[in-house]
Amino acid sequence: MENMILQLSYLIGSITFIMGLKMLSHPETARKGNLVAAAGMAIAIFATIFLYKHNGESLHNYAWIFGGLILGTVVGTIAAKKVQMTAMPEMVSLFNGMGGACAMLISLVEYGKPEEKSTGMLVVIALGMMIGTVSFAGSMIAWGKLNGKIKDRTIPGGQVINFAIFGGLIVLDAMVIMGMSAGNPMLFYGILALSALYGVLFVMPIGGADMPVVISLLNSFTGVAAAFGGFLYDNPVMLTGGILVGSAGTILTILMCKAMNRSLKNVLIGSFGAAKTGGAAGSKDQGAYKEISLNDTATLMAYASKVMIIPGYGLAVAQAQHTCHELEKVLNEKGVEVSYGIHPVAGRMPGHMNVLLAEADVPYEKLLEMEDANDQMGGTNVVLILGANDVVNPAAKEDPSSPIYGMPILEVEKADHVIVNKRSMKPGYAGIENELFFRPKSSMLFGDAKKVLQSLVGELKQM
Ligand code: TAP
Repeated sequence: MENMILQLSYLIGSITFIMGLKMLSHPETARKGNLVAAAGMAIAIFATIFLYKHNGESLHNYAWIFGGLILGTVVGTIAAKKVQMTAMPEMVSLFNGMGGACAMLISLVEYGKPEEKSTGMLVVIALGMMIGTVSFAGSMIAWGKLNGKIKDRTIPGGQVINFAIFGGLIVLDAMVIMGMSAGNPMLFYGILALSALYGVLFVMPIGGADMPVVISLLNSFTGVAAAFGGFLYDNPVMLTGGILVGSAGTILTILMCKAMNRSLKNVLIGSFGAAKTGGAAGSKDQGAYKEISLNDTATLMAYASKVMIIPGYGLAVAQAQHTCHELEKVLNEKGVEVSYGIHPVAGRMPGHMNVLLAEADVPYEKLLEMEDANDQMGGTNVVLILGANDVVNPAAKEDPSSPIYGMPILEVEKADHVIVNKRSMKPGYAGIENELFFRPKSSMLFGDAKKVLQSLVGELKQM
Protein backbone atom coordinates (compact mmCIF):
# COMPACT_ATOMS: atom_id res chain seq x y z
CA MET A 1 0.00 0.00 0.00
CA GLU A 2 2.79 2.41 1.01
CA ASN A 3 4.61 1.64 -2.19
CA MET A 4 1.48 2.30 -4.19
CA ILE A 5 1.09 5.75 -2.60
CA LEU A 6 4.79 6.41 -3.27
CA GLN A 7 4.45 5.49 -6.96
CA LEU A 8 1.28 7.59 -7.20
CA SER A 9 3.13 10.58 -5.75
CA TYR A 10 5.83 10.11 -8.40
CA LEU A 11 3.15 10.08 -11.08
CA ILE A 12 1.68 13.30 -9.64
CA GLY A 13 5.16 14.84 -9.52
CA SER A 14 5.84 13.92 -13.16
CA ILE A 15 2.45 15.08 -14.47
CA THR A 16 2.55 18.40 -12.61
CA PHE A 17 6.10 18.97 -13.90
CA ILE A 18 4.89 18.54 -17.49
CA MET A 19 1.84 20.75 -16.82
CA GLY A 20 4.07 23.37 -15.20
CA LEU A 21 6.42 23.44 -18.18
CA LYS A 22 3.49 23.85 -20.54
CA MET A 23 2.07 26.70 -18.43
CA LEU A 24 5.46 28.42 -18.36
CA SER A 25 5.16 29.02 -22.09
CA HIS A 26 2.62 31.82 -21.60
CA PRO A 27 3.13 34.88 -19.37
CA GLU A 28 -0.43 34.69 -18.06
CA THR A 29 -0.02 31.13 -16.73
CA ALA A 30 3.74 31.10 -16.06
CA ARG A 31 3.57 32.01 -12.36
CA LYS A 32 0.90 29.39 -11.68
CA GLY A 33 2.85 26.83 -13.73
CA ASN A 34 5.85 27.31 -11.52
CA LEU A 35 3.75 26.75 -8.39
CA VAL A 36 1.98 23.70 -9.82
CA ALA A 37 5.30 22.02 -10.69
CA ALA A 38 6.80 22.95 -7.31
CA ALA A 39 3.77 21.58 -5.43
CA GLY A 40 3.97 18.28 -7.37
CA MET A 41 7.68 18.00 -6.66
CA ALA A 42 7.08 18.72 -2.94
CA ILE A 43 4.58 15.82 -2.82
CA ALA A 44 7.15 13.50 -4.46
CA ILE A 45 9.92 14.63 -2.07
CA PHE A 46 7.86 14.17 1.11
CA ALA A 47 6.50 10.83 -0.10
CA THR A 48 10.10 9.69 -0.66
CA ILE A 49 11.21 10.88 2.77
CA PHE A 50 8.42 9.08 4.62
CA LEU A 51 7.49 6.11 2.39
CA TYR A 52 10.63 5.06 0.51
CA LYS A 53 12.24 1.85 1.69
CA HIS A 54 15.69 0.55 0.84
CA ASN A 55 16.10 -3.19 1.48
CA GLY A 56 12.94 -3.01 3.60
CA GLU A 57 14.33 -0.18 5.73
CA SER A 58 12.87 3.35 5.92
CA LEU A 59 15.02 6.42 5.58
CA HIS A 60 16.56 7.77 8.76
CA ASN A 61 18.89 10.76 9.26
CA TYR A 62 15.82 13.01 9.43
CA ALA A 63 17.79 15.78 11.14
CA TRP A 64 20.15 15.99 8.13
CA ILE A 65 17.31 15.75 5.61
CA PHE A 66 15.13 18.42 7.22
CA GLY A 67 18.14 20.56 8.11
CA GLY A 68 19.06 20.67 4.42
CA LEU A 69 15.46 21.22 3.32
CA ILE A 70 14.90 24.10 5.72
CA LEU A 71 18.24 25.74 4.96
CA GLY A 72 17.70 25.43 1.19
CA THR A 73 14.14 26.76 1.42
CA VAL A 74 15.14 29.78 3.52
CA VAL A 75 18.17 30.69 1.37
CA GLY A 76 16.30 30.08 -1.91
CA THR A 77 13.25 32.11 -0.86
CA ILE A 78 15.29 35.08 0.36
CA ALA A 79 17.52 35.05 -2.74
CA ALA A 80 14.54 34.83 -5.12
CA LYS A 81 12.66 37.63 -3.32
CA LYS A 82 15.64 39.96 -3.23
CA VAL A 83 17.01 39.42 -6.73
CA GLN A 84 16.89 42.32 -9.21
CA MET A 85 15.50 41.50 -12.67
CA THR A 86 18.89 42.37 -14.22
CA ALA A 87 20.61 39.84 -11.93
CA MET A 88 18.23 37.00 -12.81
CA PRO A 89 20.58 35.12 -15.21
CA GLU A 90 23.20 35.23 -12.44
CA MET A 91 20.84 33.61 -9.95
CA VAL A 92 19.65 31.00 -12.43
CA SER A 93 23.28 30.10 -13.01
CA LEU A 94 24.00 29.75 -9.31
CA PHE A 95 20.93 27.58 -8.71
CA ASN A 96 21.74 25.49 -11.77
CA GLY A 97 25.25 24.96 -10.43
CA MET A 98 23.72 23.58 -7.21
CA GLY A 99 21.83 21.01 -9.30
CA GLY A 100 25.07 19.96 -10.96
CA ALA A 101 26.76 19.73 -7.55
CA CYS A 102 23.94 17.46 -6.30
CA ALA A 103 24.46 15.11 -9.25
CA MET A 104 28.20 15.13 -8.56
CA LEU A 105 27.65 14.32 -4.86
CA ILE A 106 25.24 11.50 -5.70
CA SER A 107 27.90 9.87 -7.88
CA LEU A 108 30.57 10.38 -5.20
CA VAL A 109 28.41 8.81 -2.49
CA GLU A 110 27.26 5.89 -4.63
CA TYR A 111 30.77 5.15 -5.85
CA GLY A 112 32.04 5.08 -2.26
CA LYS A 113 29.53 2.38 -1.21
CA PRO A 114 31.15 -1.03 -0.71
CA GLU A 115 28.49 -3.00 -2.62
CA GLU A 116 29.34 -4.67 -5.93
CA LYS A 117 28.39 -2.42 -8.89
CA SER A 118 27.03 -3.60 -12.21
CA THR A 119 28.36 -2.10 -15.47
CA GLY A 120 25.05 -0.25 -15.85
CA MET A 121 25.51 1.36 -12.43
CA LEU A 122 29.08 2.32 -13.26
CA VAL A 123 27.92 3.96 -16.52
CA VAL A 124 25.39 6.04 -14.62
CA ILE A 125 27.80 6.91 -11.79
CA ALA A 126 30.71 7.87 -14.06
CA LEU A 127 28.67 9.90 -16.56
CA GLY A 128 26.61 11.54 -13.80
CA MET A 129 29.86 12.56 -12.13
CA MET A 130 31.30 13.98 -15.34
CA ILE A 131 28.24 15.91 -16.52
CA GLY A 132 27.22 17.11 -13.05
CA THR A 133 30.72 18.39 -12.26
CA VAL A 134 31.09 20.18 -15.63
CA SER A 135 27.73 21.82 -15.03
CA PHE A 136 28.64 22.82 -11.46
CA ALA A 137 32.09 24.24 -12.31
CA GLY A 138 30.85 25.94 -15.51
CA SER A 139 27.85 27.48 -13.75
CA MET A 140 30.03 28.87 -10.98
CA ILE A 141 32.28 30.56 -13.55
CA ALA A 142 29.21 31.90 -15.42
CA TRP A 143 27.87 33.25 -12.13
CA GLY A 144 31.19 34.92 -11.33
CA LYS A 145 31.36 36.47 -14.80
CA LEU A 146 27.83 37.81 -14.68
CA ASN A 147 28.34 39.50 -11.33
CA GLY A 148 31.65 40.93 -12.51
CA LYS A 149 33.90 38.98 -10.14
CA ILE A 150 35.51 37.01 -12.98
CA LYS A 151 36.71 38.69 -16.18
CA ASP A 152 36.58 37.10 -19.67
CA ARG A 153 39.89 35.37 -20.25
CA THR A 154 41.10 33.74 -23.43
CA ILE A 155 43.62 31.02 -22.69
CA PRO A 156 46.23 30.60 -25.46
CA GLY A 157 45.58 27.26 -27.17
CA GLY A 158 42.49 26.92 -24.97
CA GLN A 159 40.51 24.93 -27.50
CA VAL A 160 43.28 22.36 -27.92
CA ILE A 161 43.62 22.06 -24.13
CA ASN A 162 39.86 21.60 -23.77
CA PHE A 163 39.86 18.97 -26.48
CA ALA A 164 42.69 17.09 -24.74
CA ILE A 165 40.89 17.26 -21.36
CA PHE A 166 37.70 15.99 -22.95
CA GLY A 167 39.63 13.12 -24.53
CA GLY A 168 41.14 12.30 -21.12
CA LEU A 169 37.68 12.31 -19.57
CA ILE A 170 36.33 9.85 -22.13
CA VAL A 171 39.27 7.50 -21.46
CA LEU A 172 38.80 7.71 -17.67
CA ASP A 173 35.05 7.15 -17.98
CA ALA A 174 35.66 4.09 -20.15
CA MET A 175 38.18 2.68 -17.65
CA VAL A 176 35.80 3.18 -14.71
CA ILE A 177 32.90 1.64 -16.63
CA MET A 178 35.04 -1.40 -17.50
CA GLY A 179 35.63 -1.87 -13.77
CA MET A 180 39.30 -0.91 -13.86
CA SER A 181 38.94 1.51 -10.95
CA ALA A 182 38.00 -1.31 -8.52
CA GLY A 183 41.46 -1.36 -6.98
CA ASN A 184 42.41 2.13 -8.11
CA PRO A 185 39.80 4.73 -7.10
CA MET A 186 42.09 7.54 -8.28
CA LEU A 187 40.78 6.81 -11.79
CA PHE A 188 37.31 7.76 -10.58
CA TYR A 189 38.48 10.84 -8.68
CA GLY A 190 40.39 11.79 -11.85
CA ILE A 191 36.98 12.20 -13.54
CA LEU A 192 36.02 14.66 -10.79
CA ALA A 193 39.21 16.70 -11.19
CA LEU A 194 39.24 16.76 -15.01
CA SER A 195 35.50 17.55 -15.22
CA ALA A 196 35.91 20.51 -12.85
CA LEU A 197 38.84 21.78 -14.92
CA TYR A 198 36.90 21.28 -18.13
CA GLY A 199 33.87 23.19 -16.77
CA VAL A 200 36.10 26.14 -15.81
CA LEU A 201 38.08 26.26 -19.07
CA PHE A 202 34.99 25.73 -21.23
CA VAL A 203 33.13 28.76 -19.83
CA MET A 204 36.09 31.05 -19.07
CA PRO A 205 36.67 32.49 -22.60
CA ILE A 206 32.98 32.96 -23.48
CA GLY A 207 31.89 36.61 -23.67
CA GLY A 208 29.99 37.70 -20.53
CA ALA A 209 26.88 38.68 -22.50
CA ASP A 210 26.73 35.29 -24.23
CA MET A 211 26.26 33.75 -20.81
CA PRO A 212 22.45 33.21 -21.04
CA VAL A 213 23.00 30.78 -23.92
CA VAL A 214 25.75 28.98 -22.00
CA ILE A 215 23.64 28.87 -18.84
CA SER A 216 20.80 27.31 -20.78
CA LEU A 217 23.23 24.72 -22.16
CA LEU A 218 24.61 23.99 -18.67
CA ASN A 219 21.03 23.76 -17.47
CA SER A 220 20.42 20.95 -19.93
CA PHE A 221 23.60 19.22 -18.65
CA THR A 222 22.25 19.38 -15.09
CA GLY A 223 18.99 17.85 -16.30
CA VAL A 224 20.81 14.94 -17.91
CA ALA A 225 22.94 14.43 -14.78
CA ALA A 226 19.77 14.39 -12.62
CA ALA A 227 18.21 11.84 -14.99
CA PHE A 228 21.23 9.58 -14.34
CA GLY A 229 20.37 9.87 -10.64
CA GLY A 230 16.85 8.73 -11.53
CA PHE A 231 18.31 5.60 -13.16
CA LEU A 232 20.55 4.96 -10.19
CA TYR A 233 17.75 5.12 -7.61
CA ASP A 234 15.10 3.73 -9.93
CA ASN A 235 13.18 6.93 -9.20
CA PRO A 236 10.68 7.83 -11.98
CA VAL A 237 10.13 11.45 -10.93
CA MET A 238 13.85 12.19 -10.88
CA LEU A 239 14.15 10.55 -14.27
CA THR A 240 11.23 12.44 -15.84
CA GLY A 241 12.29 15.73 -14.23
CA GLY A 242 15.88 15.28 -15.42
CA ILE A 243 14.87 14.38 -18.96
CA LEU A 244 12.46 17.31 -19.16
CA VAL A 245 15.02 19.80 -17.83
CA GLY A 246 17.62 18.34 -20.19
CA SER A 247 15.41 18.61 -23.26
CA ALA A 248 13.90 22.00 -22.30
CA GLY A 249 17.43 23.40 -21.80
CA THR A 250 18.53 22.03 -25.17
CA ILE A 251 15.48 23.42 -26.97
CA LEU A 252 15.95 26.83 -25.32
CA THR A 253 19.63 26.89 -26.31
CA ILE A 254 18.71 26.14 -29.92
CA LEU A 255 15.91 28.73 -29.95
CA MET A 256 18.18 31.44 -28.55
CA CYS A 257 20.87 30.70 -31.12
CA LYS A 258 18.26 30.70 -33.90
CA ALA A 259 16.80 34.02 -32.80
CA MET A 260 20.30 35.54 -32.89
CA ASN A 261 21.04 33.71 -36.16
CA ARG A 262 24.21 32.26 -34.66
CA SER A 263 25.38 28.71 -34.37
CA LEU A 264 26.11 27.30 -30.93
CA LYS A 265 29.75 26.94 -31.97
CA ASN A 266 29.82 30.61 -32.87
CA VAL A 267 28.45 31.55 -29.43
CA LEU A 268 30.91 29.24 -27.66
CA ILE A 269 33.93 30.71 -29.41
CA GLY A 270 32.56 34.25 -29.09
CA SER A 271 32.58 35.68 -32.61
CA PHE A 272 30.90 38.96 -31.53
CA GLY A 273 34.08 39.80 -29.61
CA ALA A 274 36.08 39.45 -32.82
CA ALA A 275 33.68 41.74 -34.68
CA LYS A 276 34.17 44.42 -32.02
CA THR A 277 37.85 44.74 -32.71
CA GLY A 278 38.07 44.22 -36.45
CA GLY A 279 34.57 44.22 -37.95
CA ALA A 280 33.94 46.41 -41.00
CA ALA A 281 30.52 47.31 -39.66
CA GLY A 282 32.06 49.12 -36.71
CA SER A 283 34.31 51.39 -38.72
CA LYS A 284 31.90 52.62 -41.44
CA ASP A 285 31.31 56.40 -41.58
CA GLN A 286 27.60 56.77 -40.96
CA GLY A 287 27.18 60.53 -41.47
CA ALA A 288 25.10 62.73 -39.16
CA TYR A 289 22.17 61.88 -36.95
CA LYS A 290 19.44 64.24 -35.82
CA GLU A 291 18.18 64.83 -32.31
CA ILE A 292 14.63 65.45 -31.15
CA SER A 293 13.54 67.39 -28.07
CA LEU A 294 11.30 66.03 -25.34
CA ASN A 295 8.62 68.54 -26.25
CA ASP A 296 8.62 67.55 -29.94
CA THR A 297 8.53 63.88 -28.99
CA ALA A 298 5.55 64.44 -26.72
CA THR A 299 3.73 66.42 -29.43
CA LEU A 300 4.41 63.76 -32.07
CA MET A 301 3.10 61.04 -29.79
CA ALA A 302 0.08 62.96 -28.54
CA TYR A 303 -1.15 63.53 -32.09
CA ALA A 304 -0.44 59.99 -33.29
CA SER A 305 -3.16 57.40 -33.54
CA LYS A 306 -0.82 54.41 -33.14
CA VAL A 307 2.41 54.26 -31.13
CA MET A 308 4.58 51.17 -30.79
CA ILE A 309 7.15 50.93 -28.00
CA ILE A 310 10.21 48.74 -28.62
CA PRO A 311 11.80 47.81 -25.29
CA GLY A 312 15.40 46.60 -25.06
CA TYR A 313 18.16 45.88 -22.61
CA GLY A 314 18.52 49.59 -21.70
CA LEU A 315 14.95 49.68 -20.38
CA ALA A 316 15.84 46.87 -17.97
CA VAL A 317 19.08 48.61 -16.94
CA ALA A 318 17.20 51.85 -16.26
CA GLN A 319 14.42 49.94 -14.42
CA ALA A 320 12.01 52.12 -16.36
CA GLN A 321 9.24 49.57 -16.87
CA HIS A 322 6.80 51.26 -14.46
CA THR A 323 7.33 54.71 -16.00
CA CYS A 324 6.92 53.12 -19.42
CA HIS A 325 3.52 51.75 -18.38
CA GLU A 326 2.63 55.22 -17.10
CA LEU A 327 3.46 56.72 -20.50
CA GLU A 328 1.26 54.10 -22.14
CA LYS A 329 -1.65 55.03 -19.85
CA VAL A 330 -1.25 58.79 -20.46
CA LEU A 331 -1.23 58.18 -24.22
CA ASN A 332 -4.29 55.92 -23.94
CA GLU A 333 -6.12 58.72 -22.14
CA LYS A 334 -5.40 60.91 -25.15
CA GLY A 335 -6.93 58.31 -27.46
CA VAL A 336 -3.59 56.98 -28.73
CA GLU A 337 -3.37 53.21 -29.25
CA VAL A 338 -0.18 51.83 -27.70
CA SER A 339 1.41 48.43 -28.25
CA TYR A 340 4.80 46.88 -27.54
CA GLY A 341 6.96 45.13 -30.13
CA ILE A 342 8.86 42.32 -28.43
CA HIS A 343 11.92 40.81 -30.06
CA PRO A 344 12.66 37.24 -28.87
CA VAL A 345 16.22 38.11 -27.79
CA ALA A 346 15.70 41.67 -26.59
CA GLY A 347 17.44 42.09 -23.24
CA ARG A 348 19.72 39.43 -21.86
CA MET A 349 17.58 36.41 -21.10
CA PRO A 350 14.68 34.56 -22.67
CA GLY A 351 11.40 36.38 -22.10
CA HIS A 352 13.28 39.28 -20.44
CA MET A 353 11.00 42.00 -21.82
CA ASN A 354 7.80 40.04 -21.13
CA VAL A 355 8.79 39.53 -17.50
CA LEU A 356 9.91 43.14 -17.13
CA LEU A 357 6.68 44.58 -18.50
CA ALA A 358 4.54 42.06 -16.63
CA GLU A 359 6.22 43.34 -13.45
CA ALA A 360 4.78 46.77 -14.28
CA ASP A 361 1.30 45.30 -14.98
CA VAL A 362 1.35 46.02 -18.71
CA PRO A 363 -1.57 43.96 -20.12
CA TYR A 364 -0.30 40.87 -21.98
CA GLU A 365 -2.46 41.53 -25.02
CA LYS A 366 -0.47 44.71 -25.68
CA LEU A 367 2.73 42.71 -26.13
CA LEU A 368 3.16 41.80 -29.80
CA GLU A 369 5.53 39.06 -30.87
CA MET A 370 8.04 40.12 -33.52
CA GLU A 371 6.08 38.79 -36.51
CA ASP A 372 2.83 40.48 -35.41
CA ALA A 373 4.67 43.69 -34.55
CA ASN A 374 6.24 43.75 -38.01
CA ASP A 375 2.82 43.18 -39.59
CA GLN A 376 1.43 46.19 -37.72
CA MET A 377 4.46 48.42 -38.22
CA GLY A 378 3.13 49.84 -41.51
CA GLY A 379 0.10 51.44 -39.84
CA THR A 380 2.10 52.81 -36.90
CA ASN A 381 2.74 56.57 -36.67
CA VAL A 382 5.48 56.63 -34.05
CA VAL A 383 7.89 53.93 -32.92
CA LEU A 384 9.60 54.70 -29.61
CA ILE A 385 12.72 52.58 -29.10
CA LEU A 386 13.67 52.39 -25.44
CA GLY A 387 17.19 51.11 -24.80
CA ALA A 388 17.11 48.66 -27.72
CA ASN A 389 19.80 48.54 -30.35
CA ASP A 390 20.74 45.24 -32.02
CA VAL A 391 17.14 44.07 -32.33
CA VAL A 392 16.35 47.02 -34.63
CA ASN A 393 19.66 47.12 -36.53
CA PRO A 394 18.94 47.04 -40.31
CA ALA A 395 22.43 45.60 -40.92
CA ALA A 396 20.90 42.25 -39.93
CA LYS A 397 18.89 42.41 -43.16
CA GLU A 398 21.08 44.47 -45.42
CA ASP A 399 24.75 43.91 -44.68
CA PRO A 400 26.05 40.38 -45.34
CA SER A 401 29.39 41.32 -43.72
CA SER A 402 27.68 42.17 -40.42
CA PRO A 403 28.08 39.66 -37.58
CA ILE A 404 24.32 39.84 -36.98
CA TYR A 405 23.39 39.34 -40.65
CA GLY A 406 20.41 37.01 -40.92
CA MET A 407 19.03 37.73 -37.44
CA PRO A 408 15.34 38.64 -37.78
CA ILE A 409 14.72 42.21 -36.55
CA LEU A 410 11.87 44.55 -35.73
CA GLU A 411 11.38 46.46 -38.97
CA VAL A 412 10.78 49.86 -37.38
CA GLU A 413 11.46 51.81 -40.56
CA LYS A 414 8.06 50.76 -41.88
CA ALA A 415 6.52 53.19 -39.36
CA ASP A 416 6.18 56.95 -40.07
CA HIS A 417 8.59 58.16 -37.35
CA VAL A 418 11.30 56.39 -35.38
CA ILE A 419 12.44 57.88 -32.07
CA VAL A 420 15.43 56.22 -30.41
CA ASN A 421 16.09 56.67 -26.72
CA LYS A 422 19.53 55.71 -25.40
CA ARG A 423 22.26 57.53 -23.52
CA SER A 424 24.87 57.85 -26.27
CA MET A 425 25.84 56.57 -29.72
CA LYS A 426 27.60 53.57 -28.16
CA PRO A 427 26.84 50.14 -29.64
CA GLY A 428 24.78 47.45 -27.94
CA TYR A 429 25.63 43.87 -27.11
CA ALA A 430 26.93 42.89 -30.58
CA GLY A 431 29.42 45.76 -30.47
CA ILE A 432 28.48 47.12 -33.89
CA GLU A 433 27.17 50.48 -35.13
CA ASN A 434 23.53 50.88 -36.01
CA GLU A 435 22.77 52.65 -39.28
CA LEU A 436 19.15 53.07 -38.23
CA PHE A 437 20.17 55.99 -36.02
CA PHE A 438 21.40 57.89 -39.09
CA ARG A 439 18.43 57.18 -41.36
CA PRO A 440 16.03 60.00 -42.45
CA LYS A 441 13.08 58.70 -40.41
CA SER A 442 15.07 58.38 -37.19
CA SER A 443 15.60 60.93 -34.41
CA MET A 444 17.70 60.44 -31.27
CA LEU A 445 16.28 61.25 -27.85
CA PHE A 446 19.30 60.99 -25.58
CA GLY A 447 19.17 60.23 -21.85
CA ASP A 448 18.57 57.54 -19.29
CA ALA A 449 15.34 55.74 -20.22
CA LYS A 450 13.68 56.29 -16.83
CA LYS A 451 14.46 60.03 -16.67
CA VAL A 452 13.41 60.56 -20.30
CA LEU A 453 10.14 58.70 -19.75
CA GLN A 454 9.39 60.65 -16.57
CA SER A 455 9.90 63.93 -18.45
CA LEU A 456 7.81 62.69 -21.37
CA VAL A 457 4.94 61.77 -19.07
CA GLY A 458 5.22 65.23 -17.48
CA GLU A 459 5.12 66.96 -20.90
CA LEU A 460 2.15 64.88 -22.07
CA LYS A 461 0.17 65.58 -18.91
CA GLN A 462 0.51 69.29 -19.55
CA MET A 463 -0.83 69.03 -23.12
P1 TAP B 1 21.45 45.93 -26.95
O1 TAP B 1 21.69 45.72 -28.39
O2 TAP B 1 22.38 45.34 -26.00
O3 TAP B 1 21.38 47.52 -26.73
C1 TAP B 1 21.00 48.05 -25.52
C2 TAP B 1 21.15 49.56 -25.62
O4 TAP B 1 20.60 50.12 -24.44
C3 TAP B 1 22.58 50.02 -25.69
O5 TAP B 1 22.95 50.39 -26.98
C4 TAP B 1 22.67 51.16 -24.68
O6 TAP B 1 23.11 52.34 -25.34
C5 TAP B 1 21.23 51.34 -24.20
N1 TAP B 1 21.13 51.62 -22.78
C6 TAP B 1 21.84 51.07 -21.76
N2 TAP B 1 21.48 51.60 -20.60
C7 TAP B 1 20.50 52.51 -20.87
C8 TAP B 1 19.73 53.38 -20.06
N3 TAP B 1 19.88 53.45 -18.74
N4 TAP B 1 18.81 54.16 -20.67
C9 TAP B 1 18.65 54.13 -22.03
N5 TAP B 1 19.37 53.32 -22.83
C10 TAP B 1 20.28 52.52 -22.25
O7 TAP B 1 20.01 45.47 -26.51
P2 TAP B 1 18.81 44.80 -27.33
O8 TAP B 1 18.45 45.62 -28.52
O9 TAP B 1 17.77 44.49 -26.31
O10 TAP B 1 19.42 43.46 -27.92
C11 TAP B 1 19.77 42.38 -27.09
C12 TAP B 1 21.09 41.82 -27.50
O11 TAP B 1 21.51 40.87 -26.51
C13 TAP B 1 21.05 41.10 -28.83
O12 TAP B 1 22.25 41.29 -29.54
C14 TAP B 1 20.90 39.65 -28.42
O13 TAP B 1 21.38 38.76 -29.40
C15 TAP B 1 21.76 39.63 -27.17
N6 TAP B 1 21.46 38.50 -26.25
C16 TAP B 1 20.19 38.29 -25.87
C17 TAP B 1 19.89 37.22 -25.08
C18 TAP B 1 18.46 36.96 -24.73
S1 TAP B 1 18.01 35.46 -24.50
N7 TAP B 1 17.61 37.95 -24.61
C19 TAP B 1 20.88 36.38 -24.63
C20 TAP B 1 22.21 36.66 -24.98
C21 TAP B 1 22.46 37.74 -25.80
P3 TAP B 1 23.80 53.52 -24.50
O14 TAP B 1 24.96 52.93 -23.80
O15 TAP B 1 24.18 54.52 -25.52
O16 TAP B 1 22.77 54.05 -23.56
